[in-house]
Parts: sequence; structure tokens; C-alpha cells
Amino acid sequence: MLRGRRILLIVSGSVAAYKVLILARLLRAEGAELRAVLTAGGARFVTKESLAAITGAAVQDDLWAAEAEIGHIRLARWAEAVVVAPASANRLAQMAQGLADDLAGCVLLATRAPVLVAPAMNPAMWEHPATRANIALLAARGVRVAGPDDGPMAEPESGPGRLVEPEALRAAIAALFAPRGLLAGRHALVTSGPTQEPIDPVRYIANRSSGRQGHAIAAALAAEGARVTLVTGPVAIPDPPGVSVVRVTTAREMLAACEAALPAEIAVCAAAVADWRVAEEAGQKLKKTPGAAAPTLAMALNPDILATLSRHARRPRLVIGFAAETEHVLEHAREKLERKGCDWIVANDVSGDVMGGEENAVHLVTRQGVEQWPRMPKARVAEQLVARIAAFAP
Ligand code: C5P
Repeated sequence: MLRGRRILLIVSGSVAAYKVLILARLLRAEGAELRAVLTAGGARFVTKESLAAITGAAVQDDLWAAEAEIGHIRLARWAEAVVVAPASANRLAQMAQGLADDLAGCVLLATRAPVLVAPAMNPAMWEHPATRANIALLAARGVRVAGPDDGPMAEPESGPGRLVEPEALRAAIAALFAPRGLLAGRHALVTSGPTQEPIDPVRYIANRSSGRQGHAIAAALAAEGARVTLVTGPVAIPDPPGVSVVRVTTAREMLAACEAALPAEIAVCAAAVADWRVAEEAGQKLKKTPGAAAPTLAMALNPDILATLSRHARRPRLVIGFAAETEHVLEHAREKLERKGCDWIVANDVSGDVMGGEENAVHLVTRQGVEQWPRMPKARVAEQLVARIAAFAP
């Protein structure tokens, strides 16, 4: 599992840092390639020399030492997994805040690899609401957490806060590389958010889509182990964890990004794509001339991304569209299924507060029939849809 895997160890300040030397031996014995970053706190507990000898690589401890080659970015890109062990209370707080005031902080912000933290601290520090909040925030961002164990501390005290044992940490690291979830090994393409179609350099046509439903679907697919490409129009919500995000503005850019992302086994088109764009975008801001009539905008038809993907030479095996309607929801959804050539339609009535809201009430329309789902949070709709996708097992 770990042969040839590039693992970056970040060692921060805790008396438990010595266990990382044993961990490094276990990882190397399995053929992993290691590098290590020693924080200022970590260097109080293990030496750079022991860490270098055991990892078999030079240890970095200075943000500025390798900056001629932009060392922190190179390290961040090199790593296939980043393991912060031990993770001190201070390091967790720095991570939660996104601080980049040392090499470890910069690497942790710059990496796209999965990150595992193994906390180690005094039980009171572990149980402090600040640490609890930091851990919850990191976990919500997709950071995995191993431990801590419960037991005696270095000080005459006992409780949760011990760094997990090297063997357990090795297993948690191996799990980062294991294909997980019902959709492991699958590539899913998701569109989300509105598109913006320019009128002139300062004005555009858009819609009320928040991207919440599409982003929730991307997150739920990733949680089932799928590799997810999320192509999104401009939204004001955070990127879902563990998803690769491609940002676009117009429908034509969205189509190009989707085609570039193929092949995929699954496509979910949840974006509220503008059906029309202004036929000719003005090169300069349109001026209001006193006394003159209001301008008329000539419109052109945008490409239909869902229909294009459904009839594509590299068609995903399962193509799912949305039908946001304000009336005759099911009728339109069935018609859309045929016209667009997709497999399923998630139909919803957007006449109420659905667009931009937290909840959704949908029908799942397939060629086999219609299911009515109760009103529920968009995250739950996403999970149910992903469960159905996994059962279909494309
Ligand atoms: O035709 P209508 O816009 O109602 O269809 C909605 C479905 O089609 C959604 O899944 C939406 O993402 C997709 N769509 C698209 N490209 C368009 C218009 C809609 O992918 N230009």
C-alpha cells in the first residue's frame, strides 16, 4: 500500500515527538518515501539529525532557506499525503486559522494532498473549547484526525491527549491511500452555481442559484470516494473538501471545462446555466444617453451542457440533470429527460424559497418512474442521490 508513496511528516512541538522516529521507520520499511518538516517547537524535542537519518532525507526547518526555489510550494506539490504528528494545540490553531508564518504553515496551505493530524497535548488543552472548535473546523474541511489516545501523560496526569502509537498512525496513513467508499475509483463531473453572461464590461445576466445543491452533491460524491471535478459558476460558498474545483463564468466556459474533464463515469448537471447570452458583448460600458430609448439586447442561445454531455462521444455512463420549474414540474421533467437524453432528472419546484435556500423538495424522475422525496436539507438530498448513484454502480 505504501510502496513509493511520498509522505511529508510535519513534526510539531510535543514530548511525544520521539514516536515519530519509530513511525518513520515503519513507513520506510513499507517502501514509503519520506520528507520531514521540523517546526520550532518540534526541534525542542527531536533533533534534525535524528529525523534526517531515519527518514533518509534532509529535514527542512526554515521557510526562508529554500525560498530561491519556492521550497514550500515544491514540498506541498511533492507530497501525496501530509501527516502532522505530533500536532500540538498551537499547530491545530494555526491550521484552523490558515496561518502561514512558518514553513509548516505554508506547506499546509499550499498542499492539495490529504492531510492527517495526530494531536498530542495535555488533556485540559485537548478538551478546551478552542481546541474542540479548531478540530471541528479542520475535520469539516476534510482533514483526517488520528487520536489522541487516552492514558497517562508525561506530567502526573491522565486523560485524552496522548499521541496515537506509531503502528496505529501507520495504519491511519495507509488508510489515506486505500480506495474508500462505494464510488472509489470513479470520476464524477458536477456542474454547480449560476453562469454569468456579460452584457458589457460591467454588467451581466445571471440568476439566483447559490450553488448549494451542486456543491453538496460534489461533497457527497467525494465522501463516497469518487474523484470529483466540480465545474462551478461564480458562487459565494466555500469549495467542498476533497474536490477539484474549476471556476468558470459563462455557459460556454462551463461546457469547455466539462468536456476537458471527460472521461467521467458520472455527470451531475446541477448548474443553473443561462439559456441565453447577449449576442454581442459590448466592448465598452453601454452609455445612457439622455432622451434616448432604452437599448434592446439581442440574445443568442447558449450551448446546453447537459444535452451535450448526454450525446457526447465520451458520454458518462450515468448522466443526471436538474429541472428547476415553477409549474407543471413532473411534466416538464419527463419531457426534459427525453429531450436532453439524460438518464435521471432531479425535479424541483423553485416557486418558493428553494433557490438560494438550505432545503429542497425533489422528485427523482427516471425512465422507470417517479419518486417523491420529502423536503430535506440540500446536504441530505445530495447524500440520497449519491446513495442511488452508488446503487446503480456505473
Ligand atoms: O432546460 P433547463 O435549463 O430547464 O434544464 C435544466 C438542466 O439542464 C439542469 O440540469 C441544467 O444544469 C442543465 N442545463 C445545461 N446547460 C444549459 C441549460 C441547462 O446543462 N444551457
